[in-house]
Amino acid sequence: MKNRPVVIVTGASRGIGAWIARWVSSAGANVVMTARSHNDLLSLEKEIRTDGSFSMPITCDISDPNACVDVVEKVKKQFGRIDALVNNAGILEPISKIADCDPEQFKQNICVNLLGPFYMIRQTISALRKSNGRVINISSGAAIKPIASWSAYCAAKAGLTHLTRVLASEEPSITAISVRPGVVDTQMQALIREKGPTAMPPELSKYFINLKQQGKLEPPWVPARSIAWLAMNAPPELSGEFIEYDDPKIFKPAKDFFGDAH
Ligand SMILES: NC(=O)c1ccc[n+]([C@@H]2O[C@H](COP(=O)([O-])OP(=O)(O)OC[C@H]3O[C@@H](n4cnc5c(N)ncnc54)[C@H](OP(=O)(O)O)[C@@H]3O)[C@@H](O)[C@H]2O)c1
Repeated sequence: MKNRPVVIVTGASRGIGAWIARWVSSAGANVVMTARSHNDLLSLEKEIRTDGSFSMPITCDISDPNACVDVVEKVKKQFGRIDALVNNAGILEPISKIADCDPEQFKQNICVNLLGPFYMIRQTISALRKSNGRVINISSGAAIKPIASWSAYCAAKAGLTHLTRVLASEEPSITAISVRPGVVDTQMQALIREKGPTAMPPELSKYFINLKQQGKLEPPWVPARSIAWLAMNAPPELSGEFIEYDDPKIFKPAKDFFGDAH
């Protein structure tokens, strides 16, 4: 157990994050899974343990800086090393025009999507320097495309993507990459379909509903596989890049390394 790489995955209770945890543990990593939903983390831990790998669930609200400090201290105490941090936890809301946006909700979005990753990076940086480790930040197409009614999310993901570039330029021994996971069949998309018709421009809301109806959403295990591969093997020359999950540079080696979900 001691010689295995240690990978922290935030937002691992469901969706893309749960699949990142499954993939990295299937490759023999010790995986630390964080989120607020304690029972979901315990279920995933049980599943992964049955598979023979070691995992550590830690309940944590990523927007709380002290909670992030506690997580990293627990990981260091348990394993004595950190090889990769995957900042995956994220929220979409508020969904509303800037003119109508609730300031507290806007602030909460930035706290989860941008400050949470910052807290986790800051706390893990010394351990990651020692391991020549990796930071994989889960961004979004919304980081570069303005999406009406998603102002906080767009701003937070743009900030996260640029934070990744700054990290890459400051820390030559750490490989820092931001990833766009595509449009993925998770609770976040279910929320868009539920709230979109009353909160988003009609064409945009219809676009997401159609993607689901036409079976065009990506299952979460697919982008998670590319992200898990980066967490385990990201080439240092990619540091600072903003990469699509299906970019052949990462998609093919990830498929060759892990195979398909079963
Ligand atoms: N789905 C898409 O189409 C899509 C597209 C582009 C980018 N993304 C990005 O991909 C990442 C994963 O999203 P997903 O689609 O898998 O969404 P999801 O199913 O809603 O999962 C979000 C995860 O984040 C965790 N989380 C939310 N708030 C948190 C908080 N305050 N503290 C700790 N954990 C928190 C959730 O756990 P708890 O609720 O248990 O805390 C959950 O595990 C996000 O960063 C999202 O922005 C998704």
